[in-house]
Amino acid sequence: MLDIHFGDNLEIIRAFPGGSFNLIYIDPPFNTGKVQARTQIQTIRDENGDRTGFKGRRYRTVKIGSKAYADTFDDYLGFLGPRLEEARRLLAPDGSFFLHIDYREVHYCKVLLDSIFGRESFINEIIWSYDYGARATKRWSPKHDNILWYAKDPERYTYRYDDIDRIPYMAPGLVGPEKAERGKTPTDTWWNTIVSPNGREKTGYPTQKPLAIINRIVRVHSNPGDRVLDYFAGSGTTGEAAVRQGRSAVLVDSNEEAMSVMARRLAFAGPRFHGWEAGSGAEESNGLFAAARNATP
Ligand SMILES: C[S@@+](CC[C@H](N)C(=O)[O-])C[C@H]1O[C@@H](n2cnc3c(N)ncnc32)[C@H](O)[C@@H]1O
Repeated sequence: MLDIHFGDNLEIIRAFPGGSFNLIYIDPPFNTGKVQARTQIQTIRDENGDRTGFKGRRYRTVKIGSKAYADTFDDYLGFLGPRLEEARRLLAPDGSFFLHIDYREVHYCKVLLDSIFGRESFINEIIWSYDYGARATKRWSPKHDNILWYAKDPERYTYRYDDIDRIPYMAPGLVGPEKAERGKTPTDTWWNTIVSPNGREKTGYPTQKPLAIINRIVRVHSNPGDRVLDYFAGSGTTGEAAVRQGRSAVLVDSNEEAMSVMARRLAFAGPRFHGWEAGSGAEESNGLFAAARNATP
């Protein structure tokens, strides 16, 4: 079963009954949708300047920088906070919550989530390391995302250890043929490439996350038949992972293009749309996914 809702997620998820989801994964955009850029200027004496100041002196204005980051940050936690509180309310007693974020915001989000779930409910910080693209020349290239895992009840949560996929040993010669053949379980650092720009998985939606990452989360942190929620659904990766592994999913997004992409990608699952009809709005055009453009990679 797959339900896809169109609209602002806060309003939509507030209407869902408490305790009704076993797994919630969200991958919110960095930008809240508001342009918060604040440009700093300086005035400099200049006879040809465009401003007149004290005693009729002429000045010109020079742009010396922007405080867009700090402004966006303030607004970001204000935007995210109520949506994180809803996550806890919506989780079933054995439920888990995953917040996918990046190095810029993760520390602030961790503190916020500790206050909502309680510090004891924090189980892991998963590092998704992808090593793709250009290298920075003035600092270490940031090539990872952070995924925070909180359990509603740290004493009782779903963790299907036997369903964890195995990865090759780095030095198989040291562990013997049987172990080498079986592989090992991953740690909290997950190596996986980004969605390949030319690969079959690519939907064209910016910030699309790899199915392999979400598949692992769904497989290990929910049981077959469970209900999975993603209220920043984008291209519907969580929906695909959930339905293909026998879970039901509820997806929410406020972007028309996300709806179009999901309609195509998830047609195999016969989704029910709420608040949107295929072909009713702006169809995607040349990757103009405005609302998602400033989001995490
Ligand atoms: C980073 S993208 C998610 C990408 C997704 N994980 C995937 O694999 O395709 C974030 C999504 O959140 C959506 N979004 C942002 N603000 C929203 C809001 N208030 N309500 C619902 N969706 C929102 C954007 O439209 C965008 O599609």
